Amino acid sequence: MSNSITIPRGTADILPSEIARWHILEFQARRVMELYGYREIRTPAFEDVHLFKRSLGVTSDVVNKQLMELSADKAGFALRPEGTASIVRSYIENHFDKKESLSKFYYIGAMFRGERPQKGRLRQFHQIGAEAIGPTSSHPLLDAEMIALAMEILDAAGIKGSVLKINSLGTPEDKEAFSQLLRKQLAAQTSGLCEDCQNRFERNVFRILDCKTEACRKIVKSLNLSIEHLSQDSQKYFQSVQEALRTLKIDFQVAPTLVRGLDYYTHTVFEISNAALGSQDALGAGGRYNRLAADLGGSENVEAIGFALGMERMLLAMPTSTEEISEPIQTIVIALSRDDQPLGFEIVSTLRRAGISGDMGYQKASMKSQMRLADKLGAQTVILIGEDERKNGYVTVKRMADGTQEKVPVKDHFKTLVDYFKK
Ligand code: HAM
Repeated sequence: MSNSITIPRGTADILPSEIARWHILEFQARRVMELYGYREIRTPAFEDVHLFKRSLGVTSDVVNKQLMELSADKAGFALRPEGTASIVRSYIENHFDKKESLSKFYYIGAMFRGERPQKGRLRQFHQIGAEAIGPTSSHPLLDAEMIALAMEILDAAGIKGSVLKINSLGTPEDKEAFSQLLRKQLAAQTSGLCEDCQNRFERNVFRILDCKTEACRKIVKSLNLSIEHLSQDSQKYFQSVQEALRTLKIDFQVAPTLVRGLDYYTHTVFEISNAALGSQDALGAGGRYNRLAADLGGSENVEAIGFALGMERMLLAMPTSTEEISEPIQTIVIALSRDDQPLGFEIVSTLRRAGISGDMGYQKASMKSQMRLADKLGAQTVILIGEDERKNGYVTVKRMADGTQEKVPVKDHFKTLVDYFKK
């Protein structure tokens, strides 16, 4: 084994035995997204590195420490660490602002961050996300709708016990006032902060609020934060979002230290956590980003809000007993000898073309072991083909549930058999 090539750290194979749960999640997400009027968009897995630097911020951990940049002759590109920046890039490039007043996109796909891998934290992971983008489209009801959409997807996936935290960063000016306030309150305690946070104090003070170091967490807890750094208008907006959430009967907590790790946010931000996840407990997060389109060269008035849910984390929080949605295989063809194989092969091929799922083993195996395999695969029937069947133009179909057998004629280019399965 020592010289065998293994999977890169922080990535995972999604095995056939696990795929049914992924399908359930994707199916439910698509269903709910489309109920809310969102349409799917697919953007490339890599983009110009400056797209991420400009949107997420050069001081964000995602850009500073985790961006997976391509090297050599592919320099200048990076694997996408998230979906929002790419979607705004596509929105601008495809002139959506000229076509519709509000564009509602959703996406499901792999994202890449060069993080230190641990449970629930991968280097390649998957997100389900939504973004609503449009000229002067800010509205507290849209913010509430976006949060409701995220919660409804979790609900549809059977995930219980999630906690929603919300906060408001206000306008860029309010955000600046917030960072001043933070610096003022932290100034006397900087020596107690971890080394990273001492640097963050000047470069990006908000990051201190997310620091996981015990000492920094203690200091953050002692801060006296409210929403007073927000302008009157921003406060009003935030109150209206909260009222709309109450109308929708969505429970939430206002968390004054919730600032999010990416630079593009303004006004409403939110995070959904779930205790079932352990230390990496964020199931998903999002918020409003009213300046991003303009910062990336789009129209000044394009405003937006969105979220992304981590699929691996959702799967960890989903009930394990979720019923399989993959259909059981309808039939397994068992040829009793090599001479019976060509007929079996023709039968299984014809049935598949007619939309009947079937399989056949080509290796030499006893009837008993082939029956055992059919049982393991959850096959509904087996088709037995021996010398008598072949010579007399019929096959024996055995029902796995009760062991009953029937002789089914093989005539008219297998039509009789196809009809038998279709009835
Ligand atoms: P984010 O908070 O960076 O936001 O990621 C959203 C979710 O993706 C996290 O809550 C988590 O469930 C999952 N996630 C992030 N990193 C990892 C990882 N290394 N391993 C496993 N899961 C992970 C965003 O990405 C924003 N684009 C959300 C957004 C959309 N804001 C506005 N629109």
